Amino acid sequence: LIDRGHGVCTSLYTGLITQTIITIPTGRLFTYELMRETFQSDIDPRTHLYVGHFHDDPIIFKCNLQNFPDLPEWLRFTQRHPKDNGFLYGTPVSPGKSIIEIHAVNKRSYDTAKLILVIKINEEKMLPYQAEFFIEQREIEKVLPPSVQGEVKRDLQNLWKTEALEIVNITNALDRGGRVPLPLATCFEGVYVKVGSEKYFSDCLLRVLTPENQRQFKPPGGCNFCRIPSNCITWCKTELFDLTNPEPAPPAPTMGSGILESGGDFDPPESPPSRDFFPDYIVTVIVPLVIAIILCVLLAYIMFGRREGLSKRNAKTDQIQLYHHHTIHGDTDELRNMAANRSAPLPLSTLPMFNSRTGERASPLQSDSVPLIMAQHDPYSDTLPR
Ligand SMILES: *[C@@H]1O[C@H](CO)[C@@H](O)[C@H](O)[C@H]1NC(C)=O
Repeated sequence: LIDRGHGVCTSLYTGLITQTIITIPTGRLFTYELMRETFQSDIDPRTHLYVGHFHDDPIIFKCNLQNFPDLPEWLRFTQRHPKDNGFLYGTPVSPGKSIIEIHAVNKRSYDTAKLILVIKINEEKMLPYQAEFFIEQREIEKVLPPSVQGEVKRDLQNLWKTEALEIVNITNALDRGGRVPLPLATCFEGVYVKVGSEKYFSDCLLRVLTPENQRQFKPPGGCNFCRIPSNCITWCKTELFDLTNPEPAPPAPTMGSGILESGGDFDPPESPPSRDFFPDYIVTVIVPLVIAIILCVLLAYIMFGRREGLSKRNAKTDQIQLYHHHTIHGDTDELRNMAANRSAPLPLSTLPMFNSRTGERASPLQSDSVPLIMAQHDPYSDTLPR
């Protein structure tokens, strides 16, 4: 009874809706971690009752903008595996409000829960100096947790020599044309991290612009600030963006009046000179035809003109060999006949008197030759096959 009561409880809680409101600025990275544990306890409140008894159920998330099939352009979702947490991340560029619906589905029990995430985006000034770094030995899900973002940011703060540094964007290298790595422990997809600051680039960062540094994999001496090996940046893929003096927009195209200038009457081109197709015809039709006929004749001569003929071959063969050959053929035919027909006559060779060469039979009574098996006088006759 108690168990049944729980079942009712669970189904009442299924489809639970919660709402969260978040306010974020434009031009800064936004990350929201979808925790499996929280969703699981929303879906199945029994986990509260039995403290410490946490089913490690696979949970998948489906996210979309309310009343739309997909997420807004600036927002992306990633979840590596149903047993990992999911992440919503992205950088908004214009102010506004987005209502995101998140459906969580427990893949073991197929219970669902729904979260409504209201994201209010406030206008904020773009950071004027930005730089993008490539972290080769990371995957996007491993960089998005706040603790790892903090580690990466700390290294870059040291490189930039300023505390006033914000992460602007984090992108999976696969979204930027990177290749899917081999499934080996040492291969990673790679992550691009873009940071911005109010402060001008440090001397170390400016060395990116020198040509000899653009080919270097590791940061130059004195500029290597990575403390955790997997957070180290690939120096030659670093890019600096100075947004204080934006590139001048390309000049607008000059507009004409929209009317073509008058240029006299249209003069159609002459029809082209006639061509002689006879050589082409010879090459494409006659020559292959002649070759085909020659091949046919050659093949016919080989197949029919040069065959020896049965009688000529027989004449050349030893008599004894021919005889041997014929008996084999004869026996085969006989066996075939017997196999095809139940009421076939007995094989000639089982008859008492039989000339194997002519097939001529003599009546055993008339014959004065000895029977093949003298059945009456043989003491072992019972054991012999008949
Ligand atoms: C962040 O990166 C993504 C993927 O490269 C890009 O589409 C988007 O425009 C970037 N956003 C900003 C604000 O740079």
